[in-house]
Amino acid sequence: MSMLSFIIPLAAFALSLVSALQYHGADFSSLLLVESTANVQYTGSSTAAPQPLEKILYDYGVNIARIRIWTSGTYDLTYGLKLAKRAKAVGMDILIALHYSDTWADPGDQHIPSDWPTDLDGLVSQTYNYTYEVVQAFNAQETPIQLIQIGNEINDGPLWPTGRVTVNGFHPASQILHAGALAVRTASPSTKIVVHLASGWYQVGISWFLDGIFVSETEGGLGSGLTQSDVDVIGLSDYPYYGTAATLSNLNSTIGHIASTYNKDIIIVETGWPAVCDTGTTQLSEPAIPVGVKGQISWIEDIVAILNSVNLDHGGKALGIVYFEPGWVGNAALGSGCSDILLVTSDGVARESMTIFSSM
Ligand SMILES: *[C@@H]1O[C@H](CO)[C@@H](O)[C@H](O)[C@H]1NC(C)=O
Ligand SMILES: *[C@@H]1O[C@H](CO)[C@@H](O)[C@H](O)[C@H]1NC(C)=O
Repeated sequence: MSMLSFIIPLAAFALSLVSALQYHGADFSSLLLVESTANVQYTGSSTAAPQPLEKILYDYGVNIARIRIWTSGTYDLTYGLKLAKRAKAVGMDILIALHYSDTWADPGDQHIPSDWPTDLDGLVSQTYNYTYEVVQAFNAQETPIQLIQIGNEINDGPLWPTGRVTVNGFHPASQILHAGALAVRTASPSTKIVVHLASGWYQVGISWFLDGIFVSETEGGLGSGLTQSDVDVIGLSDYPYYGTAATLSNLNSTIGHIASTYNKDIIIVETGWPAVCDTGTTQLSEPAIPVGVKGQISWIEDIVAILNSVNLDHGGKALGIVYFEPGWVGNAALGSGCSDILLVTSDGVARESMTIFSSM
């Protein structure tokens, strides 16, 4: 027996203590929809008995559920409340993504809900009231929200055209977001508030938004702008299949910049890597990482390494990573040019890459 056989396990233990992020997340918002439309039974392995997806995810290490909420339509409040109950029942925390829209909100679409006002004063008031009601509803059913996004991928502001930054400047967007933040603080002071931006790899775009959106600390009433103290966390989407600039090195630059400049915590709220992809038609941002389950594992491990280097270097803390829709059978492409981004097969069987959650 050499000394090494003692030292190596100790070193591995110390490393695992340093590297554990607080949140190992999955956004499985589609689950209730999938259960009602697709004939799929989820299993944790090819020999395991069927179980609800949230139970399988939890057993693989997921400790927070990201749930999108639309103002009406498929992912309305009732739907979100129901899913949150199931997530909480297996032991997960809750991350809510408010879209402030009746449909998907992303950098190219931020539609004002059909029964909301469209003028700025009306939107400020409506955003406050709506956000307050949502947060209260989660409190009331005893699934309190740990993290909440005020808007989804709002790189050019929420609620267009009124809140669109490239149309009306930062002022309207800043007021609207402050109204959302104020409502969260009032309804649930312990909930952390997240500003969520897409293209995490694009440091210049992220900085443009964060440099413009905050006003100096004011009296803070409804109608004033978003202050630094309104926001606890910056959330980023970062996908490898929407352009070759989405490199890990670029993501690292953004994260380092956010942590040192804004002193905010950081969470990757959406990411994924293809299990199946024709790279002849869809180029990936990290060609050295293979398509397939091994690549899914590498991509997440590389992001974990980036987040851990931020933890060590700066005041802002990296909170975790959320994998986007790992079990959406019937929509495996998830809007990408690749054919399958999931962590389960088309039969609902967990792939080997489900293990990513325990290495976050
Ligand atoms: C928000 O709620 C307040 C208090 O109930 C109400 O006076 C106001 O009209 C509501 N705003 C909108 C836009 O509905
Ligand atoms: C990220 O960038 C920082 C410099 O800002 C560097 O120290 C660190 O090693 C990088 N992390 C990774 C995982 O590349």
